[in-house]
Amino acid sequence: MTTPIAVVVLAAGAGTRMKSTLPKVLHPLAGWPMVRHVLDNVGRLRPGRIVGVIAPGADAVAAAFAPHPAVVQKRPLGTGDAAKAALGALKGHRGPVLVVFGDAPLVTAESMRRLVAACRRSRAAVGVLGFKARDPSPYGRLIVHGGVLEKIVESKDANAVEKAVDFCNSGVMCIDGALIGGLLRAIRNNNAKREFYLTDAVALARAAGHRTIAVEGDEEEFQGINSRAELAVGERALQRRLRAAAMAAGVTMTDPDTVWLAADTRLSPDVSIGPCVRFGPGVSVASGVQIKAFCDIEGARIGRGALIGPFARIRPGSDVGEEVHIGNFVELKATRMARGAKANHLAYLGDSAIGQRSNIGAGTIAVNYDGYGKHRTVIGADAFVGSNSSLVAPVRVGRGANVTAGSVITEDVPDGAMAFGRARQVTKKGRATALRAKLKERAAAAKQAKKK
Ligand code: UD1
Ligand code: CA
Repeated sequence: MTTPIAVVVLAAGAGTRMKSTLPKVLHPLAGWPMVRHVLDNVGRLRPGRIVGVIAPGADAVAAAFAPHPAVVQKRPLGTGDAAKAALGALKGHRGPVLVVFGDAPLVTAESMRRLVAACRRSRAAVGVLGFKARDPSPYGRLIVHGGVLEKIVESKDANAVEKAVDFCNSGVMCIDGALIGGLLRAIRNNNAKREFYLTDAVALARAAGHRTIAVEGDEEEFQGINSRAELAVGERALQRRLRAAAMAAGVTMTDPDTVWLAADTRLSPDVSIGPCVRFGPGVSVASGVQIKAFCDIEGARIGRGALIGPFARIRPGSDVGEEVHIGNFVELKATRMARGAKANHLAYLGDSAIGQRSNIGAGTIAVNYDGYGKHRTVIGADAFVGSNSSLVAPVRVGRGANVTAGSVITEDVPDGAMAFGRARQVTKKGRATALRAKLKERAAAAKQAKKK
């Protein structure tokens, strides 16, 4: 049995380049706040504890860390100072401490596991995940001689020779739990940025005679997110992974580049997805479901064999049963469609429950809002709602009932009943022909009058 690791997630930086009132680590990626991806990734290493480091007053960030504790770094004096703020919360921890950044959501559990394993194997005091950067200029450089990581030099402090090094610091660092306190407390801020650099832990460990190592990973994982442009790059990278995983698990995508998934989207095998489909958080789709082009689905469960779209919008709280058909320009919100129910064209069904096999005609609106509160529409099994009907909630339409087209239904319709909620038709024989003749005559007379 190896001792479990502890994880420290640094998220107290100012994030000024985002130009946002929202803390950087809360900006969403694939439907989750950035830092939730980090927590999900490190969680896969089954750490004994996770500690967040946040800025003063960042309550929303602390909430994103919950149930894990978040400690406050009083002032943003650098990554070394931030890690030091977590020392109190690490008391009693003996195993390795993995320090990661809250703005690096793409680092995989696999890479972190490799780093921790390499550190354990070689009994390193400090290990770093590094990568070969196409453009090393924004990163700290890993100075390696004869296979030994000697130090990390930040870009601003690097000399010409060091600047030419393209092996860079990802920011993921594994530090021996027995040494971390001494190392972090020894870090000074005598550098270009007057900051306490976590990266100095490497040279300090070396100077004390300890082993320090670098483990190489892939650049794609280590792109930190500092700006909106990098947020978009990160989103694309995450989407590529999510799509690839879905297809590997048996999902068909006609044009994967146009399918946008959330990190928690659950797609069963033999789901088929057309072009330009977006999934918000909280969607699960059972097998055999076909989602046609241009659908937007969020917070919903889609049952086996359902047919969705094209152009359907399914909003949170919806439960679409097996074999249900939802057609073009149909919007569901907090609505349950029981097995085999159909709403094939142009409908809004909000706060509703539709019984098995019921058919909802084109243009049906569940009138669920009176300006103050939301009300429910309940439709029994095998009911038929004719086209262009308004169901003014709260209202119930019974089992096997029939609502005639164009009705405004304000009263409950009992089982098996037929409801007419519209004016009765009046037909006048010959009236159209007569009217037309009269109007024609009048127009001719007016023309004549003008000539005179
Ligand atoms: C850091 C590394 C650099 C590495 C790069 C990878 C240091 C000194 N430099 O630089 O070697 O190549 O990441 O992207 O570590 N933070 C705090 N408190 C602070 C400062 C930062 O919590 O006082 C947090 C930030 O919220 C962020 C992380 O630490 O999550 C990294 O900080 P950042 O300022 O972005 O470091 P870089 O300059 O990118
Ligand atoms: Ca950064």
